Amino acid sequence: MEKLQISGVEACVFDAYGTLFDFNTAALAARDELGDDWQRLSDLWRQKQLQYTWLRGLAGRHADFWQVTGDALDFSLATLQIDRPGLRARLMDLYLHLGTYPEVAATLRELKAGGMKLAILSNGTPAMLAAVVTSSGLDGVFDAVLSVEDVGAFKPHPAVYGLASDRLRVAPAAICFLSSNGWDAYSAKAFGFRVLWCNRFGQAAERIPETPDGEISDLSALPPIVFPRTGS
Ligand code: LAC
Repeated sequence: MEKLQISGVEACVFDAYGTLFDFNTAALAARDELGDDWQRLSDLWRQKQLQYTWLRGLAGRHADFWQVTGDALDFSLATLQIDRPGLRARLMDLYLHLGTYPEVAATLRELKAGGMKLAILSNGTPAMLAAVVTSSGLDGVFDAVLSVEDVGAFKPHPAVYGLASDRLRVAPAAICFLSSNGWDAYSAKAFGFRVLWCNRFGQAAERIPETPDGEISDLSALPPIVFPRTGS
């Protein structure tokens, strides 16, 4: 079978939460207080967080991702009837110190060593992104850490994707965008990036415009796809 190859890539741009940083690690780290509810809380928190970005966008009531993340946590704790002093603050702080998925650091270093420009493009606020990059030991790896706050709208607003090509000064067709969020991957493709959907969670294909160039199950598959093949 022909191996997937995307040629002419000058920069790889990554979604943050769910793609580089494992949002489940926040609730997991508080398992001593959450017990068996940690996964349910984590799932609901994430679902509601994304929902609130879209609801605020449609309603024209933007608030930054730190507020939206806190609001989603409040909803989730109330839904599961979890009420423990200090737990909200603890979980929010853990969101600034999320773990990375196992292959992330080595893959980023391999791409960087090969001369690839690297960036994050995320709903996260600049402060949230700076904190999680530093706490995961990825300082100095990225050429740019870009927050949607610079355009005041959440993904999948096309202006968000435009930020990456503007700031990196790389044409959309020379950017390979990676997201584990299907809706983000499809929307980035609709904007004009080359896109690999890092389908970590084995999700079904989305039914929105437009289909990504390919699908990988984790980021370790990325370097051979974007580096030109040498030899015969
Ligand atoms: C982000 C969310 C969508 O990092 O995961 O932008």
